[in-house]
Amino acid sequence: MEQGNGSRHVLKPMDSEQLREYGHRMVDFIADYYKTIESFPVLSQVQPGYLHNLLPDSAPDHPETVEQVLDDVKTKILPGVTHWQSPNFFAYYPSNSSVAGFLGEMLSAGVGIVGFSWVTSPAATELEMIVLDWLAKLLNLPEHFLSKGNGGGVIQGSASEAILVVMIAARDKVLRSAGKNSLGKLVVYSSDQTHSALQKACQIAGIHPENCRVLKADSSTNYALRPELLQEAVSRDLEAGLIPFFLCGNVGTTSSAAVDPLAALGKIAKSNEIWFHVDAAYAGSACICPEYRQYIDGVETADSFNMNAHKWFLTNFDCSLLWVKDQHALTEALSTNPEFLKNKASQANLVVDYKDWQIPLGRRFRSLKLWMVLRLYGAEALKTI
Ligand SMILES: Cc1ncc(COP(=O)(O)O)c(C=O)c1O
Repeated sequence: MEQGNGSRHVLKPMDSEQLREYGHRMVDFIADYYKTIESFPVLSQVQPGYLHNLLPDSAPDHPETVEQVLDDVKTKILPGVTHWQSPNFFAYYPSNSSVAGFLGEMLSAGVGIVGFSWVTSPAATELEMIVLDWLAKLLNLPEHFLSKGNGGGVIQGSASEAILVVMIAARDKVLRSAGKNSLGKLVVYSSDQTHSALQKACQIAGIHPENCRVLKADSSTNYALRPELLQEAVSRDLEAGLIPFFLCGNVGTTSSAAVDPLAALGKIAKSNEIWFHVDAAYAGSACICPEYRQYIDGVETADSFNMNAHKWFLTNFDCSLLWVKDQHALTEALSTNPEFLKNKASQANLVVDYKDWQIPLGRRFRSLKLWMVLRLYGAEALKTI
């Protein structure tokens, strides 16, 4: 395998001494990047297609050195990076990583497990349950979102996946009683400030585009959804023989920072057997602070609640936290039980298998980074950072 660069530089896939050596170098490289991050233009200045002109058309036949790759990162990749971690980055939404989050991410990559079922790595499942409970308590979420009962939390890749999985759970729950042929009658409600992730979920879940009620919100309520509008829409749909089944409320909309009146919306949802999901993707983090907790007052009426720890909670992307009141609604919609995944713990119903709470099978050990953020900064500091 010796190439022009000398065999010492050829990386073996699992050589611990090489990992030590190059891992140190990589950390130095990243630390230097952070040290100099303000010297880069925040927004990448490259033109579309720039990288095709700089990199070969096919993968190398023989190994190159880490130095060669890092050289290319400096000269070819970093110019095409928009520097999300720069203190001068103010686009989109905050997506702040941290040293603790980075260390957790590193550990997760290092341990390298794929924790889809409890048995594939019991610590991954159990730590996820524990940190989601910790955070639920910090947010003062209702008890029914904790893992000790029928509810519980799970880490998804994104708020979009969170909306999709709960919509599918809600859809299947309704269809079990209304009949599979009723799909075309199911109606979704939200304000026009809601993130496009909801529209995408509707598209994937097979909700008829004409059955998506995008209710107008205006400046008179700071762009919050008015409960009367929701009630009127639901009543009209019921009269038309349709089936209201899903409401997405918001705490912090992307374009207008609107906060919907959760308690009033939840009341309407409950009396009409509508699944009530609360999207607090970026703003939810702030609600660990007692002075902001009021923004999620009424969350006890929700069936599911989501916030992205990867947005404003110092946890490196991706780490989207979803809590559900009824975990069985999720697992009934998403579980599969092929022969090759069967194991004693799952068969005996003794454990949570997170594969049944999400779309993919494979899943990373993401709770490590959230755990490290919570432990290395502590709740008091996180409330003030
Ligand atoms: C309020 C809100 N909901 C949903 C999303 C979608 O987030 P994700 O990228 O995690 O799917 C965002 C992200 O911009 C958001 O701000």
